[in-house]
Amino acid sequence: MKLLQLLFIFLSFPLFAQQGGMWIPSLLEGMNETEMTNLGMKMSAADIYNVNNASLKDAVPHFNGGCTSEVISNQGLLLTNHHCGYSQIQSHSTLENDYLQDGFWAMSKKEELPNPGVTATFIVRIEDVTTQVMTGITDAMTEAAKQKKVEENIALVVQNSKKESWQENRVRTFYEGNQYMLFVVETFKDIRLVGAPPSSIGKFGSDTDNWIWPRHTGDFSLFRIYADKNNRPAEYAEDNVPYTPKHFLPISLDGVTENDFTLVFGYPGTTDEYLPSIAIEQVINTVNPARIAIRDAALAIQDKYMRADPQIKIQYASKFARIANYWKKWQGESLGLTKSDAVGIKKQQESALTAQINKQGKQKEYGHILPQFEKYYTEIEPYTLAREYFLETALRNVELLRTAFQSYQLKKVYEARGAQSFEDRRNNLVERLEGQFKDYSKQVDKDVFEALLTIYAEGVPQEFLPDSFKTLNSKAITENIYKNSAFIDYASVKNLLEGDAETVLEKLNNDPGFAIVKEMADAYYEKVAPKYEALELSISGLQRDYMKALLELSPKDARIFPNANSTLRVTYGKVAGYSPVDAVYYEPLTHLEGVIQKYVPGDYEFDVPQKLIDLYNAKDYGQYGENGKMPINFIGTNHTTGGNSGSPAIDAHGNLIGLNFDRVWEGTMSDYYYDPALSRNIMVDIRYVLFIVDKYAGAKNLIAELKLVHPKKGKEKSKKKEKKKKK
Ligand code: ARG
Ligand code: ASP
Repeated sequence: MKLLQLLFIFLSFPLFAQQGGMWIPSLLEGMNETEMTNLGMKMSAADIYNVNNASLKDAVPHFNGGCTSEVISNQGLLLTNHHCGYSQIQSHSTLENDYLQDGFWAMSKKEELPNPGVTATFIVRIEDVTTQVMTGITDAMTEAAKQKKVEENIALVVQNSKKESWQENRVRTFYEGNQYMLFVVETFKDIRLVGAPPSSIGKFGSDTDNWIWPRHTGDFSLFRIYADKNNRPAEYAEDNVPYTPKHFLPISLDGVTENDFTLVFGYPGTTDEYLPSIAIEQVINTVNPARIAIRDAALAIQDKYMRADPQIKIQYASKFARIANYWKKWQGESLGLTKSDAVGIKKQQESALTAQINKQGKQKEYGHILPQFEKYYTEIEPYTLAREYFLETALRNVELLRTAFQSYQLKKVYEARGAQSFEDRRNNLVERLEGQFKDYSKQVDKDVFEALLTIYAEGVPQEFLPDSFKTLNSKAITENIYKNSAFIDYASVKNLLEGDAETVLEKLNNDPGFAIVKEMADAYYEKVAPKYEALELSISGLQRDYMKALLELSPKDARIFPNANSTLRVTYGKVAGYSPVDAVYYEPLTHLEGVIQKYVPGDYEFDVPQKLIDLYNAKDYGQYGENGKMPINFIGTNHTTGGNSGSPAIDAHGNLIGLNFDRVWEGTMSDYYYDPALSRNIMVDIRYVLFIVDKYAGAKNLIAELKLVHPKKGKEKSKKKEKKKKK
């Protein structure tokens, strides 16, 4: 091919033309800062992340390892989503005091409710430690040897990097093993529940509206961080005191309009933006369909029981929401990947990269990558499928199997590490199970078990099935297990797990619930895992080299951002609507009018509390309304993923304007491919949060703690003044 032609291909399919991006907060200076300024930001990179002075990062802790939260007062008041605090709200709920249904508001600090085990983790400092971690790694080493060396080096960095005694060092990889960063973190452990709206506000629209725009959900809850007398992390103690943060977010009452700058700051969990096309094909054709089919069955059964029995409804609320959430997401994701032709686009990017590799004479270093991806992904496909079936059935959707599997792991721990490890792990398990069984219904679990066992036996490739599964009588097996296994209630499991290791293992071997999980797990560990793990190791080595090639061969100004890895990231964009199909345009803002339009009295998803209807009728919105309307949710072009829930949406000046909680249906494929035309994040307008706290709940005590500001109106006022002066 002529050079000109090659250049044309390269330019017309820039390797990564897509926008989006989740950026490392300590590395914003330069391209990101310029881009943000062009979008309207008035802050500098140092206002967002700074080690020496207070900055935005000091107000944004990781909430319980899975969500994001933000500090909004100088007394450690913490805002996150309703769905992030859901299991805490649930755990304080009973039929008599149903906080999920009715909401909860602490009218004084004394009424705040402790949540053992819940954490809030702040980032103290981020440092690039790539050189240390890469020391001693050579091309000649095998993948396994490289990995081992990397792990040793990481352990050294963790051990030797400076930190205070109450802090912790963590090293995470970026760009699939091409960069390593050290995070010094501080974890608070006394986190108390302060407030939550009723589910008819906090979860309005429930699963029907989940992942959907237009949306009308007040998805927020409030907690408070408590510290010891020195303002340091401490276990729960009655006399702990509210935490004084280095920084807390002022709240803007001025709202948003289309095209306003937005910055979302949080802890996105996992994305895979640089997979080869063949991997995306497998997500669409193999992985997602299997997961969806299993959950279809589990959810239908749980739903039936929850609708019939209010006790089961409380017990299963959190579990059901968790299972339903990704079940729905995978469906939207597959649709979106197909519609935006992610596979085709990745193929173009691959041809462009190949052309570039050839042009720059890098065949020897990078020429093997794409052909080997083809080979390994083709080989791994049946193993991946078997693994998904195993995980979804034995670990995620049937509680009896999960508990039995945890006991199976006890056996492995004993064999590998001896009696003491067994004891520790067992005690820990028994303690956890107590909470789990509080929300257990044998009847629901039994039906789910029977359905999933059948799907598992049909879906797992024959060569990986345990022998007895080839002629399976699901009904008979189910009856036997749910009659004779100890794993069906707490007292009997506790009893089963009592005694020294040998005794426990012997008892386990006689339990039919244990027997079935043992068959499934043995088949998985013998027939699937070894090959799957070996292929995975090769694929991750390739992915690292692929990433290296992209970083090296892409144009200098290419926006190549690292995949999400549960570390703190900045994503930015603007408030923007979108057009999902021809002739339809979705506006970026919703209002209380929409809640009333969706209202179905008595419905479990779309009921509306009378008090909210009254406030609507009276248009009693106080300082939170705008032009006689109450704003609810808005969307923007910020690139977010699971883990970004609860993230602050921040304006050009560093004030809080919203609370991230979801993405739009047509754009949920953004974990693999961010389509700027369709991918939008959904946020609660902060004025709706305040309106609910103030007007709906009457929690003036909380409003009094906040710092409310008017950045836009302030500017208008000063403009007017200037005009007057000029006159
Ligand atoms: N889809 C959002 C996220 O992934 C919200 C989930 C909670 N809501 C629900 N109806 N399950 O977490
Ligand atoms: N709802 C998600 C969360 O919980 C956010 C998302 O996936 O967009 O983190």
